[in-house]
Amino acid sequence: MKVLGLETSCDETGVALYDTEKGLLAEALHSQVDLHAVYGGVVPEIASRDHLRRLLPLVKQVLGEAGIERPDAIAYTAGPGLVGALMVGAGMANGLGLTWGCPVIPVHHMEGHLLAPMLEEDTPDYPFMALLVSGGHTMLVWVESLGAYTVMGATLDDAVGEAFDKTAKLLGLGYPGGPALARLAEDGDESRFKFPRPMVNRPGFDFSFSGLKTAVMLKVREFDEVGTLDEAKADIAASFQRAVVETLLARTLRAARDRDADRVIVAGGVGANALLRAELSDRFDGEVYYPRLRFCTDNGAMIAVAGASRLADAGKPDTIQATARWPLESLAVPATQGQINEQ
Ligand code: KG4
Ligand code: ZN
Repeated sequence: MKVLGLETSCDETGVALYDTEKGLLAEALHSQVDLHAVYGGVVPEIASRDHLRRLLPLVKQVLGEAGIERPDAIAYTAGPGLVGALMVGAGMANGLGLTWGCPVIPVHHMEGHLLAPMLEEDTPDYPFMALLVSGGHTMLVWVESLGAYTVMGATLDDAVGEAFDKTAKLLGLGYPGGPALARLAEDGDESRFKFPRPMVNRPGFDFSFSGLKTAVMLKVREFDEVGTLDEAKADIAASFQRAVVETLLARTLRAARDRDADRVIVAGGVGANALLRAELSDRFDGEVYYPRLRFCTDNGAMIAVAGASRLADAGKPDTIQATARWPLESLAVPATQGQINEQ
C-alpha cells in the first residue's frame, strides 16, 4: 500500500508518500517560518492561506518523484492544531480521496510524532517510553502498542519548545529560536549559571518550565542593565539548555524505571536537540530511538507512516475531521463521523 501523508497543523506544509513494503518513497516540506518571523510567532490566518497555496503543488511534486499517478490511501493531520490550517489538509485529503476513490485516514498529530522513529531502518518494538517534546507539547507517553497510549506526565505550563523559543527571543535570536539557541550554546560555558531544574525532585512525571524561564529573564535583565548582555549570551544559552536537558532526562529516566522500559524514543521538534540526544543515549540503560533530524519537526512522512499503521490496524470509514484539542489517550476509539472541534 502506498499512503500519501499531508501535514498542515501549524506552520509547515508537509507531504510524503510511504510504501508499507518499501518505506518512504518521496517527501517534500515547505516551511512558513519566514512568513511568521516578523510577527514573532505563528499567525493562524496566514498559516491557513499559505497551506492552501502550497499543498497541491507539493502533492504533485511528491507523486511525480515517486513516479505514481495516485496513492492507495491518504492520511492527513486531523488535530490537534490550528483549526483553519487543519481544515486545509482535511479538505484537500477528502477531495483527493473522492477523486481517486481511496480511503482517507485522519491522523493525530502527536501519534505522527510518536511513530516517526518507524521511518528509520532500526525501528523500536513495542512497548516503549516516548518523550514527546515540541513547540506545543511536552509529554511522557507509555506506548503499549499502536493506539494504546498512557500519558504519564505533561507540562503544567509552557511546552519545552516554547521555553526554547521564548528564551531565544529574550536573547534576540529571532523565531523559532530553538535551533538558534542550541547553536549559540555550543560556544557557551554551561556551568557559568546554575538555573533551576524544575520539578526534578518532585514525585510524578509532570514538567514545568515557567520558573526556569523567569530565572533566565532575570539574568538577561541583570546583564542588559549594565550593557554586558552580548558577552554573557552564549553562557546563558548553554546554561539554559543544560537545565532543560537535565530536567527532561530526570523525568524520562524516572518514567522508564517506573515501567521497566527497555526502550525509549524521543520525538517532536526539540528531539532535534543534539545535547538531549547525546545525553539520553549516554545515560539510559537500554535502547534509544530517534527520527532523523528532519523528521523530528513537523513533516508529512510521520503522518503517512502513522496513516499506514492505522490502515493496517483497521479499515476506518472516511471522515472529515479537524480537531483543535484532542487527547492522545482517546485514540483507541475510532472517529466515525466528520467533525470540526474548536475546543
Ligand atoms: O514538532 P515541532 O516542529 O512543531 C510543533 O508541533 O510544535 O516543534 C517545533 C519546536 C520549536 O519550539 C523549536 O524551537 C524546537 O521545536 N526546536 C528545537 C530544536 N529544533 C527545533 N529546540 C531545541 N533544539 C533544537 N535543535
Ligand atoms: Zn509537531
